[in-house]
Amino acid sequence: MAASGSGHENWSSRSAFILAAVGSAVGLGNMWRFPAEAGENGGGAFVLFYIFCVLLIGLPVLLSEVLIGRHGQANAPESVRRVARDSNAPEGWSILASMGVFAAFLILSFYCVVGGWVVYYIGVFLSDLFQSGVAGGAFEGRDTAEIKALMPGLFGDGTLMIGLNLGFLAITMFFVSRGVSSGIEWVAVYLMPLFFVLFLGITIYGAFSGNFGEAVAYLFTFDFSKLTGDVMLAAVGQAFFSLSLGVAGMMTYGAYANRNTNLGETSGIIASADTAVALLAGLCIFPIVFAAGLATNSGPGLMFESLPLAFQAMPFGSLIGLAFFTMVFFAALTSSVSLLEAPTAWMFEKFKMKRAVATLIVGAGAAVLGILSSLSFNDLADFYPLSFIPLFAETNFFDTLDGLTAKLFMPIGAILTCIFVGWVADARLIDDENGLDGVLHQTWRALVRFVCPIVLTVILLFGLFG
Ligand code: TRP
Repeated sequence: MAASGSGHENWSSRSAFILAAVGSAVGLGNMWRFPAEAGENGGGAFVLFYIFCVLLIGLPVLLSEVLIGRHGQANAPESVRRVARDSNAPEGWSILASMGVFAAFLILSFYCVVGGWVVYYIGVFLSDLFQSGVAGGAFEGRDTAEIKALMPGLFGDGTLMIGLNLGFLAITMFFVSRGVSSGIEWVAVYLMPLFFVLFLGITIYGAFSGNFGEAVAYLFTFDFSKLTGDVMLAAVGQAFFSLSLGVAGMMTYGAYANRNTNLGETSGIIASADTAVALLAGLCIFPIVFAAGLATNSGPGLMFESLPLAFQAMPFGSLIGLAFFTMVFFAALTSSVSLLEAPTAWMFEKFKMKRAVATLIVGAGAAVLGILSSLSFNDLADFYPLSFIPLFAETNFFDTLDGLTAKLFMPIGAILTCIFVGWVADARLIDDENGLDGVLHQTWRALVRFVCPIVLTVILLFGLFG
């Protein structure tokens, strides 16, 4: 561990930074949210526009964020303030990151609800392992209807949902309270490689069974008429969510990067790994959705409803199901840790409190909101907190937080970040940090200054009012 005099920690190596950042990016966003969003937004048009967003918007914004963090070497708002100060620009720009920290907190609260579902399925497969045995498929002697009823069964049980949610949150708090090198980095370095091995194995298996061809056609056939403003905003939002952008997450992690890390290259690795996992998750889940005749637009439950059906038909189904959900749990944990780290780092640096105390305070807040999100699926299903806004007319608390952060906070945060890095910050400072030369540098600069802010603004307005 390389702690500097100020008590500010750093990743212990470049690969630790990459693993932690990939760990932040790869998570429920890829496995759970991407397939659900793709299914709700018509498949191919969404997916291709999503890839376009990652390359043209996500990647440049990602580099902008880690760059701000690395220059500032502090929590996100403070890092922005330092870049502004070193550029003789108004320090008020830090508001862009303060908004982000708040949004990260909101995301954390509902992210841990979904993390709880993952824990539930780990329990389901673990107990099934004892009932069905190792050799055959999962859920021996139970019919499809019973398996399909698992998710609605969980959704209907508010108390269980809250318990699982708080359990997942508590595990996240444990690692964040331990700090960068002994907590966050440990999770990433040990769990991310394990995740990739397991995930690849299951996807390869899936490709040889199920309706693979139909899934490929569904995900990659581009139907221009389906590309509405709504779908475009959903795709940008998903790109940001998946890459942990627009809400201070990557700024926070960039702050723990050493001077000798090449940020341009690192950003490329993070974005490629993240996108590969999302597409593979789609190719893993949709063959099952089609084979089992599930609705593609069934929303948040999609991954959880489809996969158990596949595991029923697989040899060693209970074991593979258990391995799969364990792996999703790891991926989710490395992400929830980064969501909690952003507000926690801000709080303990700003108010000079102990890391553990800040973790507790932020965690307690996330618990309260998490309870409301857990109840959105049962007791509070008819509670639409922002029903006066057309976009959220009929969205429950959970979906409102999700939509609010992905469709407003993230694009707005990213637009401000681009303007700040592209126009406000000192060009030499930026040049010095980004690790790009020649054409790449010119391209990145043009994207950040012109393409990203303009395209994002258009999509945002189009999506909200179009
Ligand atoms: N990217 C993560 C995922 O795909 C979620 C996440 C982690 C995140 N940290 C973030 C999203 C910061 C926004 C901001 O699951």
